[in-house]
Amino acid sequence: MKVVGINGSSRADGNTFILINKVFEELKKEGIGTEMIQLFDKNISPCTGCGSCSCESCIVNTDDFKGIFDKMVEADGIILGSPVYSADVSARMKALLERAGYIVAMNPNLLRHKVGASVAAVRRGGGMAAVDAMNHFFLNKEIFVIGSTYWNMVYGKDIGEVLNDAEGMQNMKNLGQNMSYLLKKLYLND
Ligand SMILES: Cc1cc2nc3c(=O)[nH]c(=O)nc-3n(C[C@H](O)[C@H](O)[C@H](O)COP(=O)(O)O)c2cc1C
Repeated sequence: MKVVGINGSSRADGNTFILINKVFEELKKEGIGTEMIQLFDKNISPCTGCGSCSCESCIVNTDDFKGIFDKMVEADGIILGSPVYSADVSARMKALLERAGYIVAMNPNLLRHKVGASVAAVRRGGGMAAVDAMNHFFLNKEIFVIGSTYWNMVYGKDIGEVLNDAEGMQNMKNLGQNMSYLLKKLYLND
């Protein structure tokens, strides 16, 4: 079993990275494989709306989208993580979801019945909108969405500040436990 975590931040190894890793910690305890993909150094153009994605991929092959989308398709679980930018997900995350969303709309089998979790790092406002935006992607793609004891946002501005949000970090830990619970039920009949 494998879970891929996608960090939509423009900062390497920042707060969103810390949150995804907190969820990963719990998955690893259960023997679930993990892989982090950080978008800060990736080039993903927005969807052109050409409508040619019936071929299970995207005909725009001049950027980093295909490699990342292939890993989403291969994984059993997907964590989408974004910092809150302008009360929403980052533009990097948005571009990925536009492209992936259109392909999967035409090829629904690609992500069906995977397990998904969304997390957001936020200084103060817009966390709910960002988490909702990522969950909308999952819900529209027949991906089972994992919840926790609170909505999946953690407060912090500078790198590392999210660690001071004890309730938020505890929520990430619980999220990881819930994700591994469902993955094992689905794939190991545990
Ligand atoms: C372009 C930009 C826009 C931002 N917009 C918001 C915002 O609307 N609301 C908010 O609470 N924080 C906002 N922030 C702060 C980040 O969400 C916060 O610093 C977060 O912890 C960054 O996570 P990262 O370290 O993973 O990049 C913004 C930061 C940037 C760079």
